[in-house]
Amino acid sequence: MTKLVYLTDSYKKTLVSKISTITKQGNQWEVILPETIFYPQGGGQPSDRGEIVGKHGKLIVTHVRMRDQDVVHEGKLNGHLKTGETVTAHIDWTSRFDHMRWHSAGHVLHEIIIQTVPGLTPAKGEHGKHAFIEYRGDINPKLKETLEKQTNMLIAEGRPIHTEMVSLEDLKKRVSWVPEHLPKNKPLRILQISGFAPTPDGGTQVKNTSEIGQIFVSEIEQLGETVRVHYHVSDLTKAPIQPAIKPSAAPTNQITLDAFRSLLLEMQNQLLELVSKTASTQLEQLKVNYFGSHGIATQLIKQLKDLPQLDRKTAGILVNEFKSSVDQAFTQQLNNATTKEVWFDVSLPGILPPEGHLHIVTQAIIEITRIFERIGFSRVRHPEVDWDYYAFESLNMPPDHPARDEWETFFIDHKFPSPLKGEGQGEVHKGKIVLTPHTSNGQVREMEKGKLPIRMINIAKCYRRQSDVSHVPMFHQFEGLFVDKNASIGDLKGVMDYFFKQYYGPDRKSRLRPFHFQFTEPSFEVDINCGVCLGKAHLPDGQGCKLCKDGWLELGGAGMVHPNVLKAGKIDPDKYNGFAFGWGVERVAMMKSGTQLDDIRLLYSNDLRFLEQF
Ligand code: DAH
Repeated sequence: MTKLVYLTDSYKKTLVSKISTITKQGNQWEVILPETIFYPQGGGQPSDRGEIVGKHGKLIVTHVRMRDQDVVHEGKLNGHLKTGETVTAHIDWTSRFDHMRWHSAGHVLHEIIIQTVPGLTPAKGEHGKHAFIEYRGDINPKLKETLEKQTNMLIAEGRPIHTEMVSLEDLKKRVSWVPEHLPKNKPLRILQISGFAPTPDGGTQVKNTSEIGQIFVSEIEQLGETVRVHYHVSDLTKAPIQPAIKPSAAPTNQITLDAFRSLLLEMQNQLLELVSKTASTQLEQLKVNYFGSHGIATQLIKQLKDLPQLDRKTAGILVNEFKSSVDQAFTQQLNNATTKEVWFDVSLPGILPPEGHLHIVTQAIIEITRIFERIGFSRVRHPEVDWDYYAFESLNMPPDHPARDEWETFFIDHKFPSPLKGEGQGEVHKGKIVLTPHTSNGQVREMEKGKLPIRMINIAKCYRRQSDVSHVPMFHQFEGLFVDKNASIGDLKGVMDYFFKQYYGPDRKSRLRPFHFQFTEPSFEVDINCGVCLGKAHLPDGQGCKLCKDGWLELGGAGMVHPNVLKAGKIDPDKYNGFAFGWGVERVAMMKSGTQLDDIRLLYSNDLRFLEQF
């Protein structure tokens, strides 16, 4: 069992001893002494290097480790050494002193971290080349500069660091945190930075924080539930150690009012943020950490006496402002927490997330489709941006026909190479491109499929340049087309009545008015008695409201398909005939009892208070 001299004297650079054993392992030699000043790797600190010198040779020690309770010095042998021989051990002081500084720096940083961020549990530390301290918990990465600055302030204060050998029992009593795996093969020791609580430690430490030099916090790395604070320490070859600032010995004008003000402000900002993130149960601890007798804020406030006499009054006012704003933050955070805690009623029912539903127009489209499907119609889709051939010409309206004006049509301004090849269709250029002003463009497109008979319902968006209580620039139509042998106006009327009964119920009235459309002959307009005026005593039937004017509202057109349209669709008008109708979805829906809207634009105003009613 090797006695660990470095535990009680980390500054001892040489030691005279006798070799207990010397053995060869491969091309390495291993020497064991009854006592050693060499630090064996462990506890996050790298091992020492150095020499063990005898009369006829020396071991160049490259690595040192524990084997059970012995310290094994490993390395290369120059000359001869033998068991029982008296030797002098020398450690490489430059690297050892670096290890001491890095290790002690880790401890000082740790004290600052746990003071600044309450609720952390220490996990492990590494004090070699890639030094870090790890905790379970969270540290705001924004605290990097603050932690660095405060650790350097503490280092510069020149606080003594004491170590003391203890029994396990003692250790458990005196430290607030006992690591999960305490070494079983080494005596136990505690370390205490003056003014802070003792912690378990078995490394080599400097005697005073001022020997550490400068610390740099390089990164705060959150790794899931743990967080690592990476740090390094100044290189002594480049930055010699500054003498400690002893507050008592410091000259009176060591700090300027400006510097004091900015330190105070910085601490205030940092503290206000911390307070707002701290749980009510941890607030008291945070206050002690900052304002206790060794607290960070207390230390800063103490510097007031180092200010020039003239500035102290102003600084005093600043300190009072600082204290009262922080105090207020503490009280507010405590109140927030208390209010929340007091009023948390676990028996309250949960809050249901808002449930959406389909837009009233979509609901109408679904219902209309279902009604026509029941009598053998199928919903189809045709382009909503189409050649004007399908929107007009194929419907018996050659270019320049005045009837086209009724549809205030949007044209797409686009030049196509002629002839245009459509996607895989080899479709040719058919006039201009329009935003379809009605769904009748689907008529000839459906006929071109070449399948007879036809029972189609084409529901799509339509576009016209108009907007008032009964018009919007984008709306929906549903286009019915029936083509078969021997279709009659009676069939058209029957289909219409069926739809109205299904959609509005048995009591609504509808009527056909003779009209003119180029693509039907004869043609009608279809009206329904206005659902808004219905049941309103002050508006007797026939007088009308702002929507319908005369008690009837036009839903759309209908008629028997014109022979020219059948011909455009390559159907022989001598063998087949049919009827068609095209009505606005919005208008149809607005007239339903329970809906009865008197302004179509409401549907597209995106006002949830309105939409949620349907
Ligand atoms: N497309 C016409 C319009 O938008 C409505 C229409 C009238 C459609 C007669 C038809 C019809 O299918 O036969 O005003």
